[in-house]
Amino acid sequence: MARIKYLILAAVLFAAGTASAKDKEVYKDPSAPVEARVEDLLGRMTLYEKVAQLSQYTLGRNDNVNNLGEAVSHIPAEIGSLIYFDGNAVLRNAMQRRAVEESRLGIPVLFGYDVIHGFRTVFQIPLGQAASWNPDLAAKANRAAAQEASAAGIDWTFSPMVDVARDPRWGRVSEGYGEDSYTNAVFGAAAVKAYQGDDLSAEGNIAACLKHYVGYGASEAGRDYVPTEISAQTLWDTYLPSFEAGVRAGAATVMSAFNIISGVPASANHYTMTEVLKEKWGHDGFIVSDWDAIAQLVNQGMAADGKEAACYAFNAGLEMDMNDGLYMKHLQALVEEGKVSMDMVDDAVRRVLRLKFRLGLFEDPYTDERPEEECFLLPESLAAAEQLAQESMVLLKNEDSTLPLSGVSKIALIGPLADNQEDLLGNWSARGRAEDVVSIHDGLVKEMEGIAEVLLARGCGFDGQDTTMFPEAERIAGEADIVIVCLGEKRGWSGENASRSTISLPDIQERLLRAVSRAGKPVVLLLSSGRPLDVSRMDRYADAILEIWQPGVCAGKAVAGILSGRYNPSGKLAITFPYSTGQIPIYYNHRNRARRGTQGLYQDIQSTPMYEFGYGLSYTTFEYGPLTVSSDSVAPDGSITAEITVTNTGNVDGKETVHWFICDPYSRLTRPVKELRSFGKQLIKAGESVTFRFEIDPLRDLGFVDGDGNRFVEPGEYRIMVKDRTAVINVTD
Ligand code: NOJ
Repeated sequence: MARIKYLILAAVLFAAGTASAKDKEVYKDPSAPVEARVEDLLGRMTLYEKVAQLSQYTLGRNDNVNNLGEAVSHIPAEIGSLIYFDGNAVLRNAMQRRAVEESRLGIPVLFGYDVIHGFRTVFQIPLGQAASWNPDLAAKANRAAAQEASAAGIDWTFSPMVDVARDPRWGRVSEGYGEDSYTNAVFGAAAVKAYQGDDLSAEGNIAACLKHYVGYGASEAGRDYVPTEISAQTLWDTYLPSFEAGVRAGAATVMSAFNIISGVPASANHYTMTEVLKEKWGHDGFIVSDWDAIAQLVNQGMAADGKEAACYAFNAGLEMDMNDGLYMKHLQALVEEGKVSMDMVDDAVRRVLRLKFRLGLFEDPYTDERPEEECFLLPESLAAAEQLAQESMVLLKNEDSTLPLSGVSKIALIGPLADNQEDLLGNWSARGRAEDVVSIHDGLVKEMEGIAEVLLARGCGFDGQDTTMFPEAERIAGEADIVIVCLGEKRGWSGENASRSTISLPDIQERLLRAVSRAGKPVVLLLSSGRPLDVSRMDRYADAILEIWQPGVCAGKAVAGILSGRYNPSGKLAITFPYSTGQIPIYYNHRNRARRGTQGLYQDIQSTPMYEFGYGLSYTTFEYGPLTVSSDSVAPDGSITAEITVTNTGNVDGKETVHWFICDPYSRLTRPVKELRSFGKQLIKAGESVTFRFEIDPLRDLGFVDGDGNRFVEPGEYRIMVKDRTAVINVTD
């Protein structure tokens, strides 16, 4: 009897033990491993709660004119994520309190926002950042952006954009790192690391989002949101490498793109989202759709209605629905009808929860409400903004050493951008304010204080036909020793939904340049734009041309520093400047044509670009020595080093970027005429030399992928190229 009693007691204790193990809320235990917390929480969730985690609504002010949609009147406390347009900690905390305190499981919301090139301290646009060829410096800017954004309550930025873009009519060329896959890969990976740091939960770190996956930049004729035609080979050669690099750098999330990829929309593409991203690359984060991209599957002619669209997108591997609410509306029914599996829902929710745990949101869901001056426009951020701005500006022309300014006592500063602040911020400027921007006029006046007087005239607007301000501009041009004409684009002329049919500036601006050049003074043309421009007609009226892109808050300081010679320009183009719109698409890493010589060229204009990829002048001169290699043959699994010594033969210190290209001249799958595989930028003091090195791993640097994504290196001849220097090496069997 005693023995039976004992057994009953043991059974009761055991049952109680299991019950208490089950009730123990492992997901709330910060010392438990992330995966255990995820599984524990997942096991407690209803289907509705799971679907809510896969949904993103908007909160606050939607200040993106392209993000059209109905305002959400009621945000459920269970919502997975919010696009957080107001960027203030108070609003975040109020909403977060509802999620944490009013939802059954208290799962915190993930707040996302477009922090593209800075938050309040606005930096150079990404296309300009790439021209700095200084990813460490760009990373400094991204780090500052993450800290400011995080202080404002942002957990997640929809950046970096690593879409290779070869059509400058497409407004979004400004948001990425240019026409080359490798450049996008290097800058994208650096941005991911800068945003996320080593530990996502540490203060000031935010999650990154690689976008737009994939091939959005292959836009036809530069139009936005249109279908793209991309062969499997081009997908792997050109559009996927930057995403792969970002995933390898640890990017927490990826955004699916708006485009159709050769018939199958990117947001319903099982191959790219599931087979490549998750299965081949092992990405354990999640994919968020772009704005309404799931609903747009109906417009694109794939899905007949919202429910079918949700079914296509989800089954293709798209975990989070941005804005259109279709997962919220239909996912439960799709599961109940057996069209979507519960396993897939669980896998998707796991991915979202994993990020929330990694970010430390369960432990620390709120943001300290600190005064603005403690968080924004800090001196180190402004210093990075100025340095990045000056290192990214590209001196395109400098006849007779027109720049830097010397021996001038009166400068005529003319043009719609001469005293402008707002447009120098560029597109996607988050919480940037025009009044934070140092205008070119203010920068120059300060720089030239006690040296030269600066006369100012606007001359004309950005477009239109009004020439009434011309006479004043012509008058000051006549009075001055040198004329600086600031032309270019308004900030809204590039970015999303900002395609242009031509890359020429409006006629009024070119006319202004011609008018003021008649004064016969040396003319410096400053161009600010979010894309390459057609400068072929303006070229003859300008002695010097400086492309400044959209440099952000320190614009005027950086420009003035270059004009005065305080800075020696070191930017080089990361995108080709076509000679005219008719040459588009034109990019450096094209394949060879069938006929050589003069055949196959344009009959009416030159076939070469105005300024090629990698082009940019300096105030000093650099002489390149011979290109040497440590051996002229290498096994596929061996390694080899190429070297080149560069000497600064001028009178001032300068930074020089060496671009290492490779070429596989004869290959079963033909390769481009050259492909960038490495680059380095270093300061070279006047009269001194620096040796640049390229450590070559044959499979990584000489090999390539086929249309299935298999990387291989063929035996045979390869060329290593820097400028006009070439070394030939052989990869052995
Ligand atoms: C649409 C844009 O394509 C994307 O880049 C952006 O992140 C989202 N809207 C959210 O604003």
